[in-house]
Amino acid sequence: MMQPTDSQDSFRLMPCQDGSLTIHSALHDQCFHSSAGALLESQYIYLELGLKAYLTAEASTMKTDDDASVKTIDSSIKTLDPKQKISVLEIGFGSGINALLCALEFLQQRTSSEKTASDAEALQMPEQFYFESIELYPIPEEIWSQLDYASLLANEHFSREEIQAIFEKIHRAPWNERYEISPGFFLHKRHEDILTFEPAAQYQVVFFDAFSPDCQPMLWSKEVFSKIKSAMLPGAIMTTYSSKGFVKQNLRELGFDVLRKPGPGQKRHVLQIRL
Ligand SMILES: C[S@@+](CC[C@H](N)C(=O)[O-])C[C@H]1O[C@@H](n2cnc3c(N)ncnc32)[C@H](O)[C@@H]1O
Repeated sequence: MMQPTDSQDSFRLMPCQDGSLTIHSALHDQCFHSSAGALLESQYIYLELGLKAYLTAEASTMKTDDDASVKTIDSSIKTLDPKQKISVLEIGFGSGINALLCALEFLQQRTSSEKTASDAEALQMPEQFYFESIELYPIPEEIWSQLDYASLLANEHFSREEIQAIFEKIHRAPWNERYEISPGFFLHKRHEDILTFEPAAQYQVVFFDAFSPDCQPMLWSKEVFSKIKSAMLPGAIMTTYSSKGFVKQNLRELGFDVLRKPGPGQKRHVLQIRL
């Protein structure tokens, strides 16, 4: 099994306005996040507009007609009962911050004894969480070990040490196989190129977090979006930080419903894309 050991890229850490660190890739001359903040972007674009928007919509469908919501999902994907399992695909694993935030959200929702009935109904966190992420240029340990998102994320639910332990487990998890980070939360990091990736699963949420369309136009092409679309389940949501014209056009030509949402920090718009 391929285990990336070194990278052709060289990386350095950059401070963001929200107090978190992001990473600069010398190979692409790109930062992984905007200067507004790695944490801010991840929490808003991927957790709020992606994962939570999907889970909230799913919960309201179930509330109106519990049985019907399951029936709308066709027989070929019966195994993905939204009450039991959520499957997320990320394009660009990078710092691992999106995987970390999803793991924390899952653990908090599944384990919090203080959770109120209305919170539980509002989000409907399934019993199992599958997080699959594609990365062609994994970052080395000397970089990810300095990110220290745990200090910024520590709260009444998780201590800094608990969060750091999950973050380390996420980064040390083997590549190219499914690995259980904590009970019910499965991570599958794929060391491969999105251009040649062939989805074998189906997803309810997609985080499209490649480098910018100016830097990597091929990754924002109709061919790539079409491949992802074929792996998205009915009602699935994809989010991304770029609202560039040709990106929206490619998505709309494929039949996606493309919504512009206010961006975090200085960013005017980000995209929430629905099937
Ligand atoms: C904008 S960064 C975001 C990374 C991550 N989601 C994060 O929040 O740290 C883009 C990521 O896409 C990865 N990437 C670039 N080209 C790729 C390709 N062709 N296939 C897979 N991943 C790629 C980069 O190495 C980088 O980690």
